[in-house]
Parts: sequence; C-alpha cells; structure tokens
Amino acid sequence: MSTSNPSGNVLEVRGVSKSFNGVHALADVDLDVPEGSIVGIIGPNGAGKTTFFNVVAGALRPDSGHVRLFGKDVTGLPPHRIAHAGMARTFQLMRPFGSMTARENVVAAALTRGGSHKDARLAADEVIDATGMAAWADATSDSLHTAALKRLELARVLAIRPRILLLDEVLAGLVPAERAPVVDLLARLREAEGLTLVFVEHIMQAVMKLSDTVVVFDRGRVIASGEPTEVVADPRVVEAYLGQELTGA
Ligand SMILES: Nc1ncnc2c1ncn2[C@@H]1O[C@H](COP(=O)(O)OP(=O)(O)O)[C@@H](O)[C@H]1O
Ligand SMILES: [Mg+2]
Repeated sequence: MSTSNPSGNVLEVRGVSKSFNGVHALADVDLDVPEGSIVGIIGPNGAGKTTFFNVVAGALRPDSGHVRLFGKDVTGLPPHRIAHAGMARTFQLMRPFGSMTARENVVAAALTRGGSHKDARLAADEVIDATGMAAWADATSDSLHTAALKRLELARVLAIRPRILLLDEVLAGLVPAERAPVVDLLARLREAEGLTLVFVEHIMQAVMKLSDTVVVFDRGRVIASGEPTEVVADPRVVEAYLGQELTGA
C-alpha cells in the first residue's frame, strides 16, 4: 500500500532480544507480518509473548535488534509515536477513565481517529454490541469488575480502528458463547478494512479460525511458524505447549 513499504510487511522484527536480570525474555526473535494478515501467537506462560508486544509497541526498548513498522525503523520510539503511526495494543491491566462510563471511554477512543462525534458514537455502538457490553455500557468504568474491564479494553482498541492491532489474550475474559462475535468482528475488520492483526491467545479454536500464520514462542524464542494446521502438528509445538494445554496440566 505505502510506497515507502516495498516489502508489503506492516511489521518486520529482526533479531530482537530482551533480558530481565539475566533472564532471556526474548532471544533473537524475527517476525514478518504482511499487510492485511492475521498472525496468531501461542506459547506457554513466560514464553515472552507480552514482552514481544511491549517491544513492538515501544513500551520496552530491546537490548538488540530492530522493529520496522510500515517500512520505517521504530526501534526504541516511545509508545505514543508508534500509536500515531497506526498501531493499537491492549493492556492486560487496563486503566480506563474511571469517572466516565464504559461507552464514553469507547467514544473517546473512536474520536482519536479524527472525524465527527456522530461517527465516533456509531463506531462505539458497533464495537459495544460486538463485544457484548451493551447491558452495562452506561455504568461508570470504576464500577466494573475485571471481566468487564477486559471487554472494555478490547472495545477501546477496536474503536480506534488502527491499521495494525496487537491483542494480548483478550478472549480469556469472555465466556465461550461470547467469543464468536468478537472473532467474527475481527475477521470482518480484516476483510472490510484491511486490518492487520497480531494476537496472543490460548483459545486454540480462535487461533485456528483466525490465523493465516501461527507463531509459537517458547523461552523467548520462536520455535515454529507457519500454516495453523502444520504448526499444531509439529512435535516440538506439541511438546512445548499443546500437550500441556490439551491435558490441562
Ligand atoms: N518487566 C519485567 N521485569 C522483569 N521480568 C519480566 C518483566 N516482564 C517480563 N518478565 C519476564 O520475562 C519472561 C517473559 O514474560 P512474558 O513476556 O510476560 O511472557 P508471556 O506473555 O509469554 O507469558 C518471564 O520470565 C517474565 O517473568
Ligand atoms: Mg503474557
């Protein structure tokens, strides 16, 4: 799309490493995310998935390596600069504006795209419906419990309509019946608006349904990447992650 981005990759990560007190949270990670694609990231707890998002979104500076976004090197840029370039990401601990209602928080996110207040309200209504928030959208955010806050966080980033979205385990806050509308909305945003999506998720049904490419992290490294059905059949992936998921251990 962009002439400054001949590779066609929205995101290119090269040789990214990040240690915390000698623990290699990320070790020489490479990842390409083509425009309009959906990449699902799986892996055991502590594998470095959230750290990867933190590095890509500018919350953490990598010890080494590079992050390119829309063809530009953004390594070490602050989060607001990366957000301004068209990336939105969810936080596991959300901090909504507590005195505002959930709906007002979503409208505020939609307004960051520019455009009219009316458009922002319409966009907010759509994501509020899709995320199953309608019943409590007019409650003030500081009265909401954790599961509701997770949904509000998802609605907030969807309302921004970013060019690339990073979702960190957002489906975990939903009961199974509530997941399908969110999965459908994400698929629709990719079809209709060319949204590029990178999502970390333990809900394998959603990973298999949405992902063009599945990437597996284990102990800070990418141990497998490729078509979903191939990746989940890879013995290394079964050993590192899926065996434990399937047995519930
Ligand atoms: N801010 C931090 N300070 C120290 N250690 C951290 C920090 N963030 C993550 N880690 C460590 O880095 C490793 C990867 O963590 P994380 O990226 O949260 O994994 P995941 O999201 O895959 O569960 C873990 O060992 C974790 O304890
Ligand atoms: Mg995590």
